[in-house]
Amino acid sequence: MQIIKEIPSQDWQAQYSESDQQAALEALENGQIILFPALTFALGLHENKFLTPAIADLTAKNISYNPDTQHVRCAHCSEHDYRELRHFLERFSASATTLITHLLSHYTPALETGRTSFRPVEISGRPSSYRKDDTRLHVDAFPATPNHGKRILRVFTNINPEGQPRVWRVGEPFQTVAEQFLPAIAPQPFGKATLLQALRLTKTIRSQYDHLMLQIHDRMKANLAYQRGAEQCEIHFAPGSTWIVLTDQVSHAAMSGQHVLEQTFYLPVAAMLNPQLSPLRTLEKMTGKRLARN
Ligand code: SIN
Ligand code: FE
Repeated sequence: MQIIKEIPSQDWQAQYSESDQQAALEALENGQIILFPALTFALGLHENKFLTPAIADLTAKNISYNPDTQHVRCAHCSEHDYRELRHFLERFSASATTLITHLLSHYTPALETGRTSFRPVEISGRPSSYRKDDTRLHVDAFPATPNHGKRILRVFTNINPEGQPRVWRVGEPFQTVAEQFLPAIAPQPFGKATLLQALRLTKTIRSQYDHLMLQIHDRMKANLAYQRGAEQCEIHFAPGSTWIVLTDQVSHAAMSGQHVLEQTFYLPVAAMLNPQLSPLRTLEKMTGKRLARN
């Protein structure tokens, strides 16, 4: 299977025919990355000042914007710049939303908008614990934010002003990853999910699905032989390009690059064209158990 499906559009507002939309949905759900090689997110002159790692809190790797609260997190700047930064992230969020609703209109009625992030810190050489180390192949799963099987759909745009690509490694299909790691994973211990929620370590109850996905995420990252030996390829996302990917399904690692914008969406499994392709249904088939209410 080709990893990349290219779409030549240069316009965030572009309209797509039924057959183009169908092809895009099928590509994504089958684990392909949709790449727009020439879909640039233009910065206003006053926004160039944000292209520095100094804009992020020392301990943070990302600046994030929550569209529900309209709050920007982990930014290190004056009040005036904070407002401009928020506007910058809102602009990107609106563009990404237009793109997704035009290209994947089948998802629109059920789509939930998550956080917007700006990633101004060079990835390569950044210190972190192995669990947080995104230079290791992984599928996305969040310890504090269970998603009960909802799909994680992300739009990325490389806005690097110095010609530097975002370099990813992309690994094996989800089914192959799951076959490798699932057999050794024990079910979540009884009572653990309730305890985690009571201690506010998770925002909602951690389902069996979330438990398995986190375990797969952690075990992929912990296994250095797997990191080296798994079938994989390297992709260079050039500045001025945009890509869409279901990051709970596609094994990925971000190796180097600086200055990327990202918008997250969540999608209930039932809203997919083919729900059987979701990690939730794949893991349910493999375990013979219902793993989440979705
Ligand atoms: C990730 O989702 O693992 C990181 C992707 C990126 O920042 O390029
Ligand atoms: Fe990731």
